[in-house]
Amino acid sequence: MTPIGIHDLELATAHHVLDLGLLATSNGTDPNKYRIGIGQDEMSMPAPDEDVVTMGASAALPLLQRHGADGIRTLLFATETGLDQSKAAGVWVHQLLGLPAHVRTVELKQACYSATAALQAAIGIIARSPEEKVLVIASDVARYELDSGGEPTQGAGAVAMLVSANPALVEIEPISGVHTADVDDFWRPNDSSTAVVDGALSVRAYLDALTGAWDDLAARGGPELAAIDRVVYHQPFTKMAKKAQQRLSQHAGSDLGEVGLQTGSVYNRRLGNTYTASLYASLAALLDHEDDLAGQRVGLFSYGSGSVSELLTGIVQPGYASADRARRVREALDARVPLDVAEYRQLHATELPSGVDVATPRVTKAPFRFAGIRGRARHYERTDGG
Ligand code: CAA
Repeated sequence: MTPIGIHDLELATAHHVLDLGLLATSNGTDPNKYRIGIGQDEMSMPAPDEDVVTMGASAALPLLQRHGADGIRTLLFATETGLDQSKAAGVWVHQLLGLPAHVRTVELKQACYSATAALQAAIGIIARSPEEKVLVIASDVARYELDSGGEPTQGAGAVAMLVSANPALVEIEPISGVHTADVDDFWRPNDSSTAVVDGALSVRAYLDALTGAWDDLAARGGPELAAIDRVVYHQPFTKMAKKAQQRLSQHAGSDLGEVGLQTGSVYNRRLGNTYTASLYASLAALLDHEDDLAGQRVGLFSYGSGSVSELLTGIVQPGYASADRARRVREALDARVPLDVAEYRQLHATELPSGVDVATPRVTKAPFRFAGIRGRARHYERTDGG
């Protein structure tokens, strides 16, 4: 069987950053609750001329610069930060990237899980047409109400993945475990720009979904836990990965200890929650911070509240390591413009007026920007002259 999987991936984030130490001081919380208790240092926040389209296009651009667009006939855009009830956000990305017309473009939604559905759909397409490549983009802005329990677990970012036959990074193995359960742990009603969440229930639902997906993987003949070298997890906050690894170890009867948790959290600690992109940001961090993974099996646990989850495994390919990507991500994180708490609160409270034309201020330094709304349609532009 032709190996299929992630050939290359790239990460992008937003213009601004809030240090969680500042948030803790302003709301009277011990900063260690955020840094140690939930395992988060910072959270990214978009400028008014950024959104999931600009972050997603910015993540995908380097992939096209490295590999070209040849063979890409499908663009799958995974997000739970939908910008339109009808149009797929990927259509704007397709235009910004100058992709050829002969591409099918679609948006997928199921909370933080849908990038994994996109990855599996991509693998299915390539199994049928091995000469094709699929561009999968996961992009989200995690937003909770000011002064709510979820506030320190906000964030923003995108991961773009080129999925192909004979991948250079990670071959995805055919057997996976899946799990669906109707649970009201976290959702975002159509009339709200912030999520509704029952924090404690969401943590329990995540862990139950993990064991549910594991049981399915095992029943279908997947590898024993002892044959999985690292596991990366969806990380709404990085402590969640630690809780998940403990639960999985107990449940599957093999102790993974803390292996991979630190390296797999390097980016997530600074990005905050990136919903659909979070698991793949963790995979990028693991690949960028461990140099002996060639031939090793990595488990990937994808969780989307509501809930749908999947546990898949992949084999890291020889020559996977990229010191360049680690440098690029670090530079992008370091380049974010810090907000103080008053600026953060003001930006958080700013919402686009409904039903009128809007021109956004020029703030972002990213290669693409959200220019505004004309005649109720969103408009984007390229800023780097490319
Ligand atoms: N020093 C060190 N640790 C401290 C501390 C201190 N001073 N004070 C508290 N802590 C620890 C607590 O002991 C606790 O640790 P454990 O979880 O290991 O017991 C941790 O900090 C968090 O403390 P609380 O449980 O009291 O925190 P909270 O009530 O403020 O809620 C939260 C935390 C549930 C994550 C909340 O931020 C939230 O609702 N976030 C959004 C929902 C979410 O992310 N859910 C995750 C699963 S759902 C999912 O994965 C989908 C998704 O992306 C949203």
